[in-house]
Amino acid sequence: MRVLVCGGAGYIGSHMVRRLIRAGHTPVVFDNMSTGHAWALKEAFMGAEEKGITPVAVEGDVLNLQALETLFDNHEFDAVMHFSARSLVSESVEKPELYYHGILVGSLNLLAVANRAKIDNFIFSSTASVYGTPECMPIEENCLTKPITPYGHATKMVEMILEDYAQAHGLKSVALRYFNAAGADPEGGLGELHEPETHLIPNVLRAILGQTPPLEIFGNDYPTPDGTCIRDYVYVNDVADAHLLALEKLAGQSERGFTAYNIGSGRGFSVLEVMAAAERVTGQWVPYKFAHRRAGDPPVLVAAAEKARKELGWSPQLPILDEIIRTAWNFMNSRAA
Ligand code: UFG
Repeated sequence: MRVLVCGGAGYIGSHMVRRLIRAGHTPVVFDNMSTGHAWALKEAFMGAEEKGITPVAVEGDVLNLQALETLFDNHEFDAVMHFSARSLVSESVEKPELYYHGILVGSLNLLAVANRAKIDNFIFSSTASVYGTPECMPIEENCLTKPITPYGHATKMVEMILEDYAQAHGLKSVALRYFNAAGADPEGGLGELHEPETHLIPNVLRAILGQTPPLEIFGNDYPTPDGTCIRDYVYVNDVADAHLLALEKLAGQSERGFTAYNIGSGRGFSVLEVMAAAERVTGQWVPYKFAHRRAGDPPVLVAAAEKARKELGWSPQLPILDEIIRTAWNFMNSRAA
């Protein structure tokens, strides 16, 4: 299939592009390169030629409707994957306008051009943030979605728009609610690299390498066994695989509709447990200090991913935290070399 991958030069997007090519699909990447990397695209495209696939990269912004129209005039697609959005929970609390504008306008633009081009398979990068501070744990998809941040609110709104598009325009769509994507493809060349970096695992590893000041642990007074936040870390290639399965499901589905799936490992680890795992993997201590809570962080987010197992046939291939961290560590060392 020919798949438009908006945000395909980013962390999860570039893993997706490599996965699509391995599976015999042709990706067309559309990315404004604000947080994506040209090197990641180059790595992700490697090996395409041998498979007779010609991937395409177009620089552009989903906020630019005209650029999207030109893209759709120049290419034909069977499906759209939408990774193009800011996704930092605490930044969204500080800059709500950036998140509402970017997520809502970007998604509406993309849906408008896709609808005009009669592309009815749409996969949206949603988030565990739609649940806010959940009342049920582990979280099932039918638990209340009551976001507590602009990022969560805007993302939930896009899910609602997708549902309405199914009714109005016959769209078939899936929202994958990622928990905490982590790790790197063991084939090498791809991994998590943000500037500035805000995510826990790369920050732990950077602190170990002495590339940053000691790790700041945001809050040790949460209602959790050790007082630090608990998250569900899911391997980035497993996240990408969920998209491939969703793509197959949508392609084989005749009726319109919207479905949301949790994509998580089903196991939760506190910040201190993540640090301990990194110490086991690297054989080195993590220099750290406790700091104030970070805005927008719920105490615990752990997925129930039964629905994705049953309906998509998805299951995490790398569910072990230490192994996930090992792939991130290998990537970080390869960049430093
Ligand atoms: N944390 C620290 N120190 C750091 C970085 C993070 O203590 O230097 C803590 C955070 O406070 C949080 C946990 O580690 O408790 C995980 O934080 P991340 O920044 O790695 O990830 P988030 O849970 O904030 O968010 C990620 C994605 C979101 C997604 C969410 C779903 O960035 O897009 O997972 O759970 F919505």
